[in-house]
Amino acid sequence: MDQEAIESFRAQARLYKHIFNYVSSMSLKCAVQLGIPDAIHNHGEPITLSELVSALGIDPTNASFTYRLMWVLVHAGFFATTKVNKDEEKEAYVLTPFSKILVKEKINCLSPFVVGMLCPAMMMPWQFLSDWMQRTKKSPFETANGKPFWDYMDHDPVFKALFHDAMRSDSQMMNLVVKDCEQVFEGLKSLVDVGGGTGTIARVISEAYPQLKCTVFDLPHVVANLPTTGNLNFVGGDLFQHIPSADAILMKLVLHAFADEECIKILKKCREAIPTKGEKGKVIIIDIVINVEKDEHELTEAKLFFDMLMMVEVSGRERTEQDWQKLFMAAGFSHYKLTPLFGLRSLIEVYP
Ligand SMILES: C[S@@+](CC[C@H](N)C(=O)[O-])C[C@H]1O[C@@H](n2cnc3c(N)ncnc32)[C@H](O)[C@@H]1O
Repeated sequence: MDQEAIESFRAQARLYKHIFNYVSSMSLKCAVQLGIPDAIHNHGEPITLSELVSALGIDPTNASFTYRLMWVLVHAGFFATTKVNKDEEKEAYVLTPFSKILVKEKINCLSPFVVGMLCPAMMMPWQFLSDWMQRTKKSPFETANGKPFWDYMDHDPVFKALFHDAMRSDSQMMNLVVKDCEQVFEGLKSLVDVGGGTGTIARVISEAYPQLKCTVFDLPHVVANLPTTGNLNFVGGDLFQHIPSADAILMKLVLHAFADEECIKILKKCREAIPTKGEKGKVIIIDIVINVEKDEHELTEAKLFFDMLMMVEVSGRERTEQDWQKLFMAAGFSHYKLTPLFGLRSLIEVYP
């Protein structure tokens, strides 16, 4: 075979791997829906295929399907194998750091994120991406689902539950860092979590800082019937109209869901809601900051995937530090402090 043929076949293998990348994510979703991370965790020791099949309630005649699912997931690093010495030496499955954060009984469990982000309403819009770029005015999400993202959610209770469960699990991870953020919340008496969903991060913060009065502000249908507890309450409204006043406004993964012009409007509303004189008064943003030069290749790839996700689902985008800075200045803020703390996300404190 000549060099050109060798290169073409190598390229074909790489191309096919990328074409079928969804096999990895959909196999992972299947594993989560079957409860494989929980079955391995609950077993307490490496679990053989037959034990796994039995724990999952799968008909033993389907064991070979389970074996093939585990084969691809082990290869991808979601699980690992080890040898166990019972009657004969057998292969058995164990959790890896990836699947440890998918165990339901753990406080930081991202299984709902896997299921929510890979649900049909989130996947279908990708079929309309090229069409949208060339022709359509409606976003890919709207073309696929009949309504823009946030409106659609109010009309599909299953999707609404999946999405908010996914966001809740993502926000719950913040309990790992909130206690280390004393200087961020120091001196504040009140905080409004704008676009705070069902209040997971506000709950984590209100528990860690009991002196802080926390308000979760989100669309009325999102916060309807959520009860006030201790120093945490819920207010419904539209962030383009009015944002309740507080010493600080928090926005986690909100601005990345909006285009630049919309972000400037939201940030101006935030500025109106906080004190502009004295020590207090800031906007705390937890969001993605793309840094191609500094970040490892894999981290940048994940951030760029989020950028595409925002484009397809909500017409938003991810931003570099320069992009963020432009938004802050355009909305009338004077300076900011960026702390790259949470893996994919950074914390940005923005001052009037
Ligand atoms: C990506 S979610 C982030 C939720 C939460 N901050 C978190 O990180 O878990 C964006 C949130 O913004 C809310 N939202 C969207 N448009 C809004 C609007 N016009 N007014 C108030 N909230 C809005 C959504 O309901 C959703 O809860």
